[in-house]
Amino acid sequence: MTAHGTLDAAIARMTAIISESRHVVALVGAGLSAESGIPTYRGSGGVWTKFGEPTIDGWELFQEDPAAWWEAALNPEAQLTDFARAVEGAEPNAGHIAMAALEAEGKLAHVITQNIDGLHRRAGTTQLTEIHGNRSFVRCMNCGERSLLAQIKIRQLPPLCEACGGVLKNDTVMFGEPIPEPALRECYRQAALADAFLVIGTSAVVYPAADFPVMAKRRGVPLIEINPEETALTGIADVVARATAGEVLPALVERLRT
Ligand code: APR
Repeated sequence: MTAHGTLDAAIARMTAIISESRHVVALVGAGLSAESGIPTYRGSGGVWTKFGEPTIDGWELFQEDPAAWWEAALNPEAQLTDFARAVEGAEPNAGHIAMAALEAEGKLAHVITQNIDGLHRRAGTTQLTEIHGNRSFVRCMNCGERSLLAQIKIRQLPPLCEACGGVLKNDTVMFGEPIPEPALRECYRQAALADAFLVIGTSAVVYPAADFPVMAKRRGVPLIEINPEETALTGIADVVARATAGEVLPALVERLRT
């Protein structure tokens, strides 16, 4: 946390940039949901920082035997992990609510989120690409159709798509799994349209998500970082608010209203 004056200056500068912009895009990471009680992965307090990265073989296991994968995923034990419990009990926080207000007031054109918790939607954000999917949804591996897990009928394992009979998978994108084409296309489109880029609560080390602000920056688009810690993009950021999203975003909304 920098001296208050510096933070104030950063919020004033981002307010000036955003008030003159016509197509602000945000890249969001786990840090935005930290204040909703959902642990981050990296950085101080991150679960991977504490316990190391888990074996990342979900995608291989699913492709080998989707029925077995579903059997394990539907096992009540799977719902008892700390992360699953944290997401189940999470509510949108002041950061999510401020981002929904920025959209409603025409100051935020699109959110690219790496978070799978669905909290942006619940806060009211509608112009949203969930690039790593949404844990409440399933996705057909054949036609790409997304539907709510709670609404599908699981008559066998793996469950099949009502529309095309394809195998259904949870919508969360696993490591090594390709990002669904429509989501990827929209992210590149937004990166090309952006005239200001907010980078909020992400360590910016996972691709292609971390590429979108860099692509915009290459076109001379100003980058605004909101994060209590340094990230992989700090070096190219035009404005750095070294504080939490829950502190900076509501202040930004207020300043833009005056
Ligand atoms: N406000 C803003 N930023 C915060 C806050 C907060 N209250 N608390 C923590 N942060 C920052 C941390 O400093 C860190 O830079 O949020 C960032 C979280 O980084 P990661 O844990 O790496 O999360 P993320 O960048 O979203 O990870 C990207 O990697 O683990 C995979 O698929 C997973 O989508 C995830 C992707």
